[in-house]
Amino acid sequence: MNKGITWTDVLDRPLRDLRISVTDRCNFRCRYCMPAEVFGPDYSFLPREELLTFEEILRLVRLFAAGGVEKVRITGGEPLLRRNLPRRLVEMVKGVEGIKDVALTTNASLLAGQAKLLKEAGLDRVNVSLDALDPQVFARMNGHRSDLSRVLTGIEAAEAAGLRVKVNMVVQKGVNEDQILPMARYFREKGPILRLIEFMDVGNSNNWDLKQVVPKWEMLEMIREEMPLEKMKPNYYGEVADRYRYRGSDREIGVIASVTDTFCSSCTRARLSADGRLFTCLFATEGTDLRGPLRGGAGDEELLNRIRAVWSRRRDRYSDERHTWTQDLPRKKKVEMSFIGG
Ligand code: GTP
Ligand code: 5AD
Ligand code: SF4
Ligand code: SF4
Repeated sequence: MNKGITWTDVLDRPLRDLRISVTDRCNFRCRYCMPAEVFGPDYSFLPREELLTFEEILRLVRLFAAGGVEKVRITGGEPLLRRNLPRRLVEMVKGVEGIKDVALTTNASLLAGQAKLLKEAGLDRVNVSLDALDPQVFARMNGHRSDLSRVLTGIEAAEAAGLRVKVNMVVQKGVNEDQILPMARYFREKGPILRLIEFMDVGNSNNWDLKQVVPKWEMLEMIREEMPLEKMKPNYYGEVADRYRYRGSDREIGVIASVTDTFCSSCTRARLSADGRLFTCLFATEGTDLRGPLRGGAGDEELLNRIRAVWSRRRDRYSDERHTWTQDLPRKKKVEMSFIGG
């Protein structure tokens, strides 16, 4: 369906990926994403009727595929909280013509029970968020919501089911930087590829401070002292992680440096929030409503035009621009990460 189609934005970036948040809820309370004091018992999450149904999401995926999207990532909050996700969403999305890669980002607490179903439904890959191997550091970071063993079991189940797995570790200075080496050692031996992520200033809730960012060069230096690394080529255009091979092996590690080594110039990602708004940047303030027209009876052509118009006006490059006003944070009202799916 999308053969040869390329919609480009103002900065000449093609639309290639769609990240779909299927819920704004999560069973974890990671301090850098959904701190418990902000996302407490009285927090009002989206009511059910405001969430896009799987059928509505599918319709949009078909339209995005017609506009050139080849990669779909399902996110949340925690996407596995949404009932019947494997059979009713993954399977349908995987069947859309033009979609080559369907992946999921999850905290893995519910993965063990669903890994096989997800694989059978056609899921290609899973990225698991895991910030520490020390059970206490792990628990502190996710607001004491899960045992470490559940997540490790989830990762193993995903691999056993034949899913390709990456592990995302958000590194915060003074919180879990001492976990970098244990995590690198552990995952160098195991199947998943570890990616170290610089703590980002997403949303307005996580009290971001530049002083809490461990820069990419520092993380790499820490690892290189013990395990020499060689730079590798990206897997695909616009990959957010820089890849490194452990010298003398075929194992690799990645670093996602969206603060100190930004990648906006090759950003091909559109984001769909759980309530059907289209965002063109992780750090956006506003999204464009697609649910209204979808439920109001808009035809495919009308929806397609709306999406194309949004993409053709896109000029976001937040991370590239961040350094110019880092001293003066935070002022901009930004959408929360748990709402837009990272
Ligand atoms: P792959 O397809 O496996 O390369 O996945 P991914 O790295 O694109 O997605 P994932 O959900 O695993 O995200 C890993 C980290 O990269 C998270 O911290 C994301 O928030 C961050 N990230 C992903 N896309 C973007 C982006 O467009 N901009 C910024 N600034 N960060 C991003
Ligand atoms: N900075 C960097 N990464 C973050 N994530 C969530 N919040 C942040 C943040 N403030 C990561 C999660 C998940 C991915 C979607 O984004 O750990 O792996
Ligand atoms: Fe939940 Fe992921 Fe946010 Fe942690 S980072 S609170 S697991 S959505
Ligand atoms: Fe893309 Fe915005 Fe992230 Fe830059 S900051 S890479 S434009 S999502």
